[in-house]
Amino acid sequence: MTQDNSSQDKAAGQNGGGDLFNTAAGWVLFAAGLGLGLSILSGKYFHGDKPERPEKLGYVIEGAVEESGGGAAEMSMAEALNTMPAAELIAAGEKAFAKCQSCHTVAAGGANGIGPNLAGVMGGPVAAKGGFAYSGELKALGGTWDWDKMNDWLKNPKAYVAGTKMSFAGLPKVEDRAAIAMYLNSIGGNLPVPTFVADAAAGAPAGEETPVAGETPAAAETPAE
Ligand code: HEC
Repeated sequence: MTQDNSSQDKAAGQNGGGDLFNTAAGWVLFAAGLGLGLSILSGKYFHGDKPERPEKLGYVIEGAVEESGGGAAEMSMAEALNTMPAAELIAAGEKAFAKCQSCHTVAAGGANGIGPNLAGVMGGPVAAKGGFAYSGELKALGGTWDWDKMNDWLKNPKAYVAGTKMSFAGLPKVEDRAAIAMYLNSIGGNLPVPTFVADAAAGAPAGEETPVAGETPAAAETPAE
């Protein structure tokens, strides 16, 4: 009989614990519900989850010249390649390459995916990876992937090579394009990084690219737009 008693005691104890647990669980549920309600409410009024920015920030004063940051005075590829030590730029490029990974492998000997494997692409001939079915348009581009060509390509592939199979909107920031090109160059590429002379560029009239020492004549190439 003692056994029965003890089991009853146990059951009672469990019930007691259960009540306590239920009460606590109730409060947790209540708090969660309250939080959810509040977040729904605040979402209604503040659109915290969908930031809506006007297309143009601020307003344009007529006659005023845009100083910088308007995209008009974007730094050159040569300058972007020299904004930080090579190792840091390569690391930044590896990060930014996340945008490309769904279609490209980069390790030497990596498989072609939706896009070709990119090992050794910098300094190499355009559209030349074995076993990949390039578009006729990219094949027709010809030449080798130097810094400027890669810059133009990554900025807006479809604008640079109309009809390309690469469905990628492009990288609007020259810093990102430089970082990724540096990263690609670090894997099987061997292009020398162009030197950038700040003074020469500072004296240049706006909108005109000055050939910088160390840059190849290909820099004068006009991007097809
Ligand atoms: C949606 C898939 C997709 C994404 C994302 C993508 N690419 Fe591509 N990429 C392609 C395809 C497809 C081609 C082949 C294009 C053609 O044949 O016209 C290509 C071609 C290329 C080439 C030319 C390779 C050669 O052998 O000449 C380079 C360089 C390249 N991509 C770099 C990049 C980089 C860098 C990114 C990320 C910033 C990127 N791609 C993002 C699909 C993609």
